[in-house]
Amino acid sequence: MTNKVVIGAQWGDEGKAKITDLLAQNADLIIRYQGGCNAGHTVVADGKTFKFHLIPSGILYKGKTCLIGNGTVVLPEYFEQEVKGLKEENIDLSGLKVSPLATITMPWHTEVDGYSEDNASKGKIGTTKKGIGPTYTDKMGRIALKIGDLYSKEALSEKLDVILPLKNKQLEKVYNLKTYTKEDVMELCKKYAEIFRPYVCFDWQELLRSFKREGKKILFEGAQGVMLDIDFGTYPFVTSSNPVGGGASTGSGYGPTVIDEVIGVAKAYVTRVGEGPFVTELTDSVGDSIREIGHEFGVTTGRPRRCGWFDAVTMKYACLVGGLTSIALTKIDVFDSFDEIKVCTAYKDRRNGKVYTDYPTDVYIHKYLEPVYETHAGWSEDITGIKKYEDLPINARKYLERLEEILEIPISIVSVGPDREQTIFKN
Ligand code: IMP
Repeated sequence: MTNKVVIGAQWGDEGKAKITDLLAQNADLIIRYQGGCNAGHTVVADGKTFKFHLIPSGILYKGKTCLIGNGTVVLPEYFEQEVKGLKEENIDLSGLKVSPLATITMPWHTEVDGYSEDNASKGKIGTTKKGIGPTYTDKMGRIALKIGDLYSKEALSEKLDVILPLKNKQLEKVYNLKTYTKEDVMELCKKYAEIFRPYVCFDWQELLRSFKREGKKILFEGAQGVMLDIDFGTYPFVTSSNPVGGGASTGSGYGPTVIDEVIGVAKAYVTRVGEGPFVTELTDSVGDSIREIGHEFGVTTGRPRRCGWFDAVTMKYACLVGGLTSIALTKIDVFDSFDEIKVCTAYKDRRNGKVYTDYPTDVYIHKYLEPVYETHAGWSEDITGIKKYEDLPINARKYLERLEEILEIPISIVSVGPDREQTIFKN
């Protein structure tokens, strides 16, 4: 039995949805453990396109239990909308569960996020404006509401007596935003309680225990990517949660001993949305080609993604801090028409010539860094129909094997197109 965590190994958007979708087929319990509706996962099933933000895409398979874990932040209206969309498609939601310990994104969180982004003259993060940072800030500040709070009027009232005076002061004095009365918020919470009621899993402890006891397969679904991790990413240009493999423990209710494998999903190149350092970014026609061929536009915001060559420096780092046991390399077919493909193996500081093969965590110096590349010959062949690793062109295999050598970790899955069938399981 292997319990797997699937995480993004770059800056998000690596194609995790396809890999989790594939692995979910053989899982019994799928847990989304961090982030919120900042994530956007597109899954094509039976000719229909589904866009997920919060609910694990495993819900599309009958009979699976899908838990939105305690480590997530949930915007009730988004959850409601996602549920409605799935119901309209007659998707069975009997396996959908939400942890009572998940944190609620309140209207003031999205308002503060929007305000901070729109009014930042310096230090703009380029967030998705879904209230993620402000919600996690309040969670850590111990002034957030958990979904479980919605079902005790007395506890909710007591909590709001602590939260609201503080919050209103902040909203008014710091952000010049509207304030909230207790009556308004109690009313809102009544509405939220109804949205979550059919799905709140108050007996989550026994649920998790029973899956473990019965040796059922558990899949932990990460969002965003290692380089956006609050502890290890390109801080402060990060999200406010822990997309690393370790986040699966704190965000699900299962300790680390339950996890057998961590699969890091990485694209054969790199993309990033929002601000922040990106040493291998290509602002030329090569970058444009990658964006066009790879359809690199955000699911949640529609923003064009910044594109660049594969960065083995950040990837080596992601293998370490993400706890990866193998890599799923996606979108390698985007290079089918490329004569040559580059891989960044080191950074060079243009001020003093210093070479870094380990990721420099002081991101302030990244503006002085330039990529050191090795160049690989392309394969100039359509590989989108290939099913077996041995049938890949020799140059594609050489490229993959060189990545394994640099990263000191196996590539277990190679994705050569968006469909489920366009996947090569290497071992
Ligand atoms: P936030 O998570 O909305 O606070 O945004 C913080 C940073 O993470 C921004 O650079 C976003 O563009 C980025 N980000 C958040 N979610 C995703 C995602 O699902 N894919 C890629 N980038 C993301």
